[in-house]
Amino acid sequence: MTPDMRDIKIINGKVLTFKGRKPLRGTDMGSIEVLKGVPVCIEDGRIVSIDKDEKAREVIDAHGKIVMPGFIDPHTHLIFAGSREREFGLRLSGKSYMEIRESDGGILSTVRATREASSEELIFLARKRLDYALSWGTTTIEVKSGYGLSLKDESKILKVIKRLSETHPITIVPTFLGAHDFPPEIRREEYIELIISELIPKVSREGLARFCDVFCEEGVYTEEESERILNEGKKFGLAPKIHADELKSSGGCEVGIRVGATSCDHLIYISEREIELMTKSDTIAVLLPGTSFFLSLKDKPPVRKMIQMEIPVAIGSDFNPGSSPILSMPIIIGLACLTYGMTPQKAIVAATINAAYATGEKERGSIEEGKWADIIILNVDDYRKIPYWFGYNPVEVVIKEGKRLDRKG
Ligand code: NIG
Ligand code: FE
Repeated sequence: MTPDMRDIKIINGKVLTFKGRKPLRGTDMGSIEVLKGVPVCIEDGRIVSIDKDEKAREVIDAHGKIVMPGFIDPHTHLIFAGSREREFGLRLSGKSYMEIRESDGGILSTVRATREASSEELIFLARKRLDYALSWGTTTIEVKSGYGLSLKDESKILKVIKRLSETHPITIVPTFLGAHDFPPEIRREEYIELIISELIPKVSREGLARFCDVFCEEGVYTEEESERILNEGKKFGLAPKIHADELKSSGGCEVGIRVGATSCDHLIYISEREIELMTKSDTIAVLLPGTSFFLSLKDKPPVRKMIQMEIPVAIGSDFNPGSSPILSMPIIIGLACLTYGMTPQKAIVAATINAAYATGEKERGSIEEGKWADIIILNVDDYRKIPYWFGYNPVEVVIKEGKRLDRKG
């Protein structure tokens, strides 16, 4: 039985919908359909009808503007203290990201600052970042640990993430990334042992993460170590993700496919063989153009080829203090077009429905009956203006699970 009054009805919008089997692959990634003026009705947090003129308690007139699913950011390192502008200067004068990492900077400098910060300080910092992301239209975000690298500090970070997900309107998908680097105080093998015999069981027991991730890269975690950690995570119910082929071809993507990863991320140096393997798998390729841009990396992932080979591609911010201090998905969409050669259509699909699959949030990411009403209304009348007005924040209204929020959350 349909109630006579819906909670919200959005009228006069240009409603973006996606055609094809989800996640979208190949030419389907370009298949955005704009439904002009069709009403979208929301009830109990869900989209209940599209193109049915029902009565509603609140009517939002979109005045011909774009109505679309909220952005889903499938890859961030949101929880950290401090910042790394000193390294930014070093990079501008010619040092590489890896050189800085090896000379006392990089991830470990953020680990020091994050270990020193209290949970309250980390919550304070992260809450402001979540408000900011929401103001740019992000309604779901994946958040990794990884700046603790000890039992105490990784637990602290994951509990901060849990606390935020209970108190902030954005949907937060937590990922355990204990294998982000190696802590300086213990031996490499000892730390891997700690991840396997203590951290993973604890994270699983306390329900602190959905995914387990590893930074597989020359000089960081090897393929064997990555595979061992991800398989162990799987035994404890943590789905695998992997940072792969970011700075060199590491074979990480192959590891990801072997363990059945939900996503392989970065993939700048993905090999022909890995492309072949990905084509036959359900793994999503999460590309992070903000990182390539911010590290001034010359090489790019073979995006056109990947899409042509029907690999489902998502894009994310990789927000972190070292390689991508960018949290705005409209800017990431702009970079995906300008630096990775994606079309606006494909970049939008990659930042919504395909990113939903990369985070395991399949009931989000598109405007469809039955899905969560995570909807944004933009101050533009054409979706191509999202990347075109580069750097402009087009977000006017954010509706999260049927509740209208102001831009500050
Ligand atoms: O995805 N690659 C590892 N992690 C981040 C960088 C983290 C940092 O530099 O603090 C990345 O690029
Ligand atoms: Fe990352």
